[in-house]
Amino acid sequence: MARVLSLFTFLFLGFLGLISFPAEAAIKKYQFDIQVKNVSRLCHAKPIVTVNGRFPGPTIYVREGDRVLVNVTNHAQYNMSIHWHGLKQYRNGWADGPAYITQCPIQTGSSYTYDFNVTGQRGTLWWHAHILWLRATVYGAIVIMPNQGTPFPFPQPNMEVEILLGEWWHSDVEEVVKEGTNMGLPPNMSDAHTINGKPGPLFPCSEKHTFVMEVELGKTYLLRIINSALNDELFFAIAGHNMTVVEVDAVYTKPFTTSAILIAPGQTTNVLVQANQIPGRYFMATRPFMDAPLSIDNRTATAILQYKGIPNTVLPTLPQLPLSNDTEFALSYNKKLRSLNSPKYPANVPLKVDRNLFYTIGFGKNSCPTCLDGTKLLASLNNISFAMPQTALLQAHFFNIKGVYRADFPDKPPTPFNYTGAPLTANLGTATGTRVSKIAFNSTVELVLQDTNLLTVESHPFHLHGYNFFVVGTGIGNFDPAKDPAKYNLVDPMERNTVGVPTGGWTAIRFKADNPGVWFMHCHLELHTSWGLKTAFVVEDGPGQDQSVLPPPKDLPPC
Ligand code: C2O
Repeated sequence: MARVLSLFTFLFLGFLGLISFPAEAAIKKYQFDIQVKNVSRLCHAKPIVTVNGRFPGPTIYVREGDRVLVNVTNHAQYNMSIHWHGLKQYRNGWADGPAYITQCPIQTGSSYTYDFNVTGQRGTLWWHAHILWLRATVYGAIVIMPNQGTPFPFPQPNMEVEILLGEWWHSDVEEVVKEGTNMGLPPNMSDAHTINGKPGPLFPCSEKHTFVMEVELGKTYLLRIINSALNDELFFAIAGHNMTVVEVDAVYTKPFTTSAILIAPGQTTNVLVQANQIPGRYFMATRPFMDAPLSIDNRTATAILQYKGIPNTVLPTLPQLPLSNDTEFALSYNKKLRSLNSPKYPANVPLKVDRNLFYTIGFGKNSCPTCLDGTKLLASLNNISFAMPQTALLQAHFFNIKGVYRADFPDKPPTPFNYTGAPLTANLGTATGTRVSKIAFNSTVELVLQDTNLLTVESHPFHLHGYNFFVVGTGIGNFDPAKDPAKYNLVDPMERNTVGVPTGGWTAIRFKADNPGVWFMHCHLELHTSWGLKTAFVVEDGPGQDQSVLPPPKDLPPC
């Protein structure tokens, strides 16, 4: 009896978090079968590439400290690689996933096991295909629960829901992309946005294709919102309900309440929602933000927040989303994002900088004899458009294979100019090359990303693999190295993995290069990435025993 009682007490205390369970790592195993499946949306059926026949794909649930093994078997006709977006993959770029950067792709009929530890991170991240435009349908959520017994640093929700925002094309996405590339023009824009793979009732044939979230009056919900769209920054709002932002990119924020959020491709946002309104049916809605003079798929996807017991016949109301070009909303929303910076979750902002980098973002046209008007659009950093290699950069680095990349990516643009002045069409001979920057181990890096008016200004969500960084400053116009650093926030800037460079403006980020390996950095608009708006950092090994890149796994796909 006493034994039963003490077991009970042990479990009870454990439940209260008064004793902590040994932080021994669990192993979480997943099988991902890449398979083609017919899926119908907007009254058309088409074959899409999926994981396990599901769209969106399965959620990976882990706890901080776990080891994760995901065996990916490719049954589709395309080569495949999967990226675990936002996971730091310490010394372990082999599990990062971008094709030809850290691994060659998994060929049809082959398998590869992504083997990684989830250390020092908790929150919402996501995974997606990292080759061609296959992430259009190959994506899913990653939920990292905090250590056993560690509560969230905000009111504990009664329930959690994942909300994945996406884009849908009538036609086969790879065909659409090929057509665009052959013409040297942007491929056709998407035909719908989606919430959890469903466009909602504002689109035809969508009765079955509407996501419904049932809520109970008086309860609190944690929404884990992910922008898995390819090319669109999105607003998201819920009719009649405010949201409290508590986390972005798996980093806790200072909580703030808002009627709408802004989320760029690659980013995640956790919000608390209270079901505290008159029980009814309320639309959740998402639509793009675009404040450059460019056309875009501006269709609104909807889902329904439905109070328990309310019949489906009740017509939902639509939320007020900011206007598509509401720059003011975007700037003030991003300004509200601050790291929680509590004793338990400090913001360790690098205060001194060892290496200053300044990269301009530009569009250009190069000659293309087979294209429609003899030119093709491309995009560049410091006037260099990145050319994909055929051997993975990490392998070239680890095995010291020469001739795959050049480590001479310039720290500055070739010539300074008035970056955000009148539109520039000169200076369009953009260089192409597989050029990367070498970074000394443990050095602190400041990178200023400067948008330009080369052809047009536009906003760009930049993502860095292998790291979180701190967003220490941002502004409109040209970055001023004499004045702007004085205005940086070095106390509680947002720490994240993907940040927007505003249209015609700049963003400064800082990180400490303590993770050796080859780490991709790119605009997370797939259109721009495919035009070459990308590069990589080769972070050198440190002198210590545990400061070098781990050896590659035996089943790493061959190049
Ligand atoms: Cu989510 Cu390299 O991307």
